[in-house]
Amino acid sequence: MITETVRVRAAELAGAGGLPAFVYDLDALRAHAAAIRAALDAAPGAPELFYAAKANPDAPILQALAPYVDGVEVASGGELAHVRRALPDARIAFGGPGKTDAELAAALDAGVERLHVESPHELARLAALGRPADVLLRVNLAGDRAGVALAMSGPFGMDADAIGACVPLLDSAPHVRLRGIHAHLASGLDAAAMLRQSAEILAWARPWLAARGVRRPEINLGGGMAVDYADPAHLFDWPAYAQGAAALARDGETLRIEPGRAVSVYSGWYVTDVLDVKRAHGDWYAVLRGGTMHLRTPVTKQHDQPFTVLRRGGDGPATDAPVTLVGQLCTPKDVFARQADAGRLATGDVVAFAMAGAYGWNISHHGFLMHPEPGFHYLGTARFSPSR
Ligand SMILES: Cc1ncc(COP(=O)(O)O)c(C=O)c1O
Repeated sequence: MITETVRVRAAELAGAGGLPAFVYDLDALRAHAAAIRAALDAAPGAPELFYAAKANPDAPILQALAPYVDGVEVASGGELAHVRRALPDARIAFGGPGKTDAELAAALDAGVERLHVESPHELARLAALGRPADVLLRVNLAGDRAGVALAMSGPFGMDADAIGACVPLLDSAPHVRLRGIHAHLASGLDAAAMLRQSAEILAWARPWLAARGVRRPEINLGGGMAVDYADPAHLFDWPAYAQGAAALARDGETLRIEPGRAVSVYSGWYVTDVLDVKRAHGDWYAVLRGGTMHLRTPVTKQHDQPFTVLRRGGDGPATDAPVTLVGQLCTPKDVFARQADAGRLATGDVVAFAMAGAYGWNISHHGFLMHPEPGFHYLGTARFSPSR
């Protein structure tokens, strides 16, 4: 659950007063990305792999991933500028709702390869720029998404009526070239569910694109590959998905996926130490330095963040009982894990939360309570860039 590289650095940081800190193992990230790449390469016709930068856009992460991915998906002008700086030659797809005119123009200036259009109004504004653009229309298919971690219903993409409203706009703006369809319908799907969803998207997209006369169509099947916070060793079955998707593919079309979480989540740890151990109304609590303003993931997903304890504790308060791990925030929501079995946990012990490499620091409300920010450490042999 914790790599030796991270364990050693965590102990050093604890000794040097360097906690809390995000510690990333870039060699582990590269090994994981290489395994995903190998699964896709072993299945001719399998989708291209774009990394969704929103999961973790840190430059060292992007640069470590670059050899293993076909491109990067960005979802704002900020991500676009950042990814262009970190990876000047990367193929980029730009999606996301509510793109401004300035963002659309910046995308064309930056040589974005594909724009994922979210509404007829966005398409009209893009067309009004009068510049060549290659687009996928983002479709929001109805359907039963029961059991998924997050269904992307609501304002994302277009239903069939809205997609239909794009047709006259495209006809009147030949400089906007329709290349295909994009869909990101849900997250938290295992390989079998993802394949069913991919088949559903293809079944809708193919006839629609054929009727539009799109040659060599592209279909982006989205991200959302599941990770298991309760069992970090339980990985998304990339070989099964790659084989299954390749079997769905047809000659002359390009399939693409854009996962984020399942690519980078395993590469990061949030490492901190125990400030206090105490009992209230029969329950034990360990108060940790920092909090969920640094790692909001367990709050947003309402789960227990997996962790490893590095014993360093002294003579201060300790417990052997199930313990709830909380941070320094003045809110009962500042909880990393509830009633966890941590063995003997003592003041001064170090706690390394795993699976903090995606949707961790970058989705968290850093400013709340003005505690110091964590340190950031990118370990391993991948090319290092000091700016996040
Ligand atoms: C359009 C789009 N693509 C890809 C992703 C990445 O999803 P995940 O990190 O679950 O793979 C997201 C996440 O919200 C998204 O909105």
